[in-house]
Amino acid sequence: MNPSGQEDPFIKHRHTARYYAQRVRESLTTRVSKLICAIFLIILLVSGIVAFIVWLSLRPHRPRIHIHDFSVPALSQANGFENAKITFNVTARNSNQHIGFYYDHVEGSVYYKDQRIGYTPLLDKFYQEPKNTTIVYGVLSGATLTVNSQRWMEFLNDRSQGMVIFRLDVTSNIRFKVSTWDSKRHRMHANCDVGVGPDGSILASYGNKRCPVYFT
Ligand SMILES: *[C@@H]1O[C@H](CO)[C@@H](O)[C@H](O)[C@H]1NC(C)=O
Ligand SMILES: *[C@@H]1O[C@H](CO)[C@@H](O)[C@H](O)[C@H]1NC(C)=O
Repeated sequence: MNPSGQEDPFIKHRHTARYYAQRVRESLTTRVSKLICAIFLIILLVSGIVAFIVWLSLRPHRPRIHIHDFSVPALSQANGFENAKITFNVTARNSNQHIGFYYDHVEGSVYYKDQRIGYTPLLDKFYQEPKNTTIVYGVLSGATLTVNSQRWMEFLNDRSQGMVIFRLDVTSNIRFKVSTWDSKRHRMHANCDVGVGPDGSILASYGNKRCPVYFT
């Protein structure tokens, strides 16, 4: 090529065998480099897919907490305040395929209008295997339930309007176990809102509901 960018007709005529051999070699090297590029991209794509699948199967699901029962039998009795008691049960499920949970002590607190009215230890530390569901029963009465007569009057007032709303908080510290590796501790909170009807039992619309779980 000359500086103006156009091919010199004289040179064009003098394309030699050497010229063609060089062109063939060049196209061969671009083809080889394209092939290497393609192989590299395919390897990248496949390892990306593999990493994604591994991540999907290892991705930890947080514990699934469901509330099943929550009752304040005394609400249905005339002088129930004397023997006020709250019983409940929740389930904690580990829905992971390969990840276990180490729970520290599990504790339950009951709130009414954001004020804690009861607290009780629920479970000692335990290891929960993948795909296991553990039932947690709780009873609050006497010393673990701090309800004075004024608070009880508030309950009865709510009851006369159809329901009393409580919140059960289940808390624990948990560690995730993946094969031989353990995570650090995470503080888990499950907040279960429950409505209790005039008979002292959980209202159907609140039963068997999943409680939001978050970590701090
Ligand atoms: C929870 O308690 C209620 C009432 O005591 C009972 O009917 C229910 O079967 C219990 N649920 C579980 C999962 O134990
Ligand atoms: C879940 O684990 C607990 C505690 O290890 C055990 O008592 C219970 O039987 C297990 N449940 C199932 C369904 O395997």
